[in-house]
Amino acid sequence: MAVVQQRTQYSGDIASTLLAYYDRHARDLPWRAPPGMPPPDPYRVWLSEIMLQQTTVAAVIAYFEKFIARWPDFAALASADDADVMAAWAGLGYYSRARNLIKCVRVVVTEYGGELPETSVELAKLPGIGPYTAAAIAAIAFGERVAVVDANVERVTARLFAIETPLPAAKPEIRVAVDAITPADRPGDFAQAMMDLGASLCSVRNPQCLICPLQLHCAAQKAGMAETLPRKAAKKSKPDRAGTAFWIEHNEHVWLTCRPDHGMLGGMRSLPDDGWNARADGDSQPPFAADWVSVAGEVVHVFTHFRLTLRLAATAAPVDESRLPPGEWWPLKSLDSAGLPTLFSKAAKLAIRARSKNLEE
Ligand code: ADE
Repeated sequence: MAVVQQRTQYSGDIASTLLAYYDRHARDLPWRAPPGMPPPDPYRVWLSEIMLQQTTVAAVIAYFEKFIARWPDFAALASADDADVMAAWAGLGYYSRARNLIKCVRVVVTEYGGELPETSVELAKLPGIGPYTAAAIAAIAFGERVAVVDANVERVTARLFAIETPLPAAKPEIRVAVDAITPADRPGDFAQAMMDLGASLCSVRNPQCLICPLQLHCAAQKAGMAETLPRKAAKKSKPDRAGTAFWIEHNEHVWLTCRPDHGMLGGMRSLPDDGWNARADGDSQPPFAADWVSVAGEVVHVFTHFRLTLRLAATAAPVDESRLPPGEWWPLKSLDSAGLPTLFSKAAKLAIRARSKNLEE
């Protein structure tokens, strides 16, 4: 902490230098107001910050535009069908965010008169809003002077103050440092300027220190150690899990189920599967006895805590449809609109490829 205290005498310089840089180089993103302008609609800030949790700006832009066009404000989203929101989220990953998005918007409409609370403390009480997201929304939409610390900001700050403690142990020290340099004026622009710097010049592997606006303030650059920071504790390797999904076809339709609300990919449409999860392989048991054929190929999908290898087995509809798990027939020609999460849309592609090969042969 001593290093941070020593350097905070320059904190005003850091903020004003960075804001001047932001005025010229801010990324033009659809949820942002131009630098120095009044804050954007809190709905846009909230929606974008939820989507940006663990997800890149590049992946979020198209989803953000799609949601805004379809549900332009809190009231519209609050009255949407859950299944439509889940399907619109398909492909963006971390599906508990979509379930919490629905819960949150309904709380905002029913308990807060359709307006977000304006402080980070109140925001953090809402579903799906953790301390980072609460701080980001409060700073960007409501001008609260609060430290906003995502992975990019962590990197910029660890370098600025040459914090050598490895992550995650360094988090409290980094938070204190970010708090010390966050200005009372334009805290939202400052937070986004830190994010932009981390996403551009202050990159993980190849920091462009010579053209960085904070070069003269940066302790790591002075010590020639920018690219070695932040240090990270060794990561545990992810366990491998195996599972099987089942492709049941009838008359140009495939049988889709809806996953239980809790657990992996909760609430999403999917192919039936054999119950794989983060802690165990699937049991390979199909939902009913039939002539199951293995489909060539497999899908490898990396989740936060494990890597899944999913195989696929296919059969025709059973004569007695009551043997099917709960679900619905979905037309193959509009499978894109089923809102399958990426894992299952990759599996569906395998099946469709195998099927068109069989038809050719
Ligand atoms: N990541 C999270 N929030 C962001 C924002 N407002 N701008 C750019 N990247 C972000």
